[in-house]
Amino acid sequence: MSAPIEFTLNHHAQAVQAEPDTPLLYVLRNDFGLTAAKFGCGLGQCGACTVLVDDEAVFSCVTPLAMVDGRRITTLEGLGSAASPGPIQQAFIEEQAAQCGFCIPGMIMRTAALLRKDAHPDEAAIRKALHPNLCRCGTHMRILRAAVKAAKA
Ligand code: FES
Ligand code: FES
Repeated sequence: MSAPIEFTLNHHAQAVQAEPDTPLLYVLRNDFGLTAAKFGCGLGQCGACTVLVDDEAVFSCVTPLAMVDGRRITTLEGLGSAASPGPIQQAFIEEQAAQCGFCIPGMIMRTAALLRKDAHPDEAAIRKALHPNLCRCGTHMRILRAAVKAAKA
């Protein structure tokens, strides 16, 4: 059996014994019960599974576990909670930026990755950053307003 893969997950040191090519998304959902990141396409084409690895937004459905060895992972659960939402989550709540909600964790994580690089992006930069993430409900304009609000916060 291979050695455990160790990483920091939402500020806590963790280790997992699993096949190195196991998708990170499966580990987050099945081993840690972190179900905010969603399985949409499983092909790196929709962004529903987006999480941060060392502050970079990644598609966790196509990120093998071996790639996060020694790295720092942040999921939506690491940004706040329903009782105590973080600033980006608060902006999405205030703008009611969700319909079915399936894409929203990924949208928030993509926004978080942008704001960690650029604290005050303009709307064009936000549109560009969110481009890899799809919303099948057509909630894009509310999502954009929420991200703009978060960038101003
Ligand atoms: S589920 Fe990962 S990109 Fe669609
Ligand atoms: S709110 Fe339904 S997919 Fe975006």
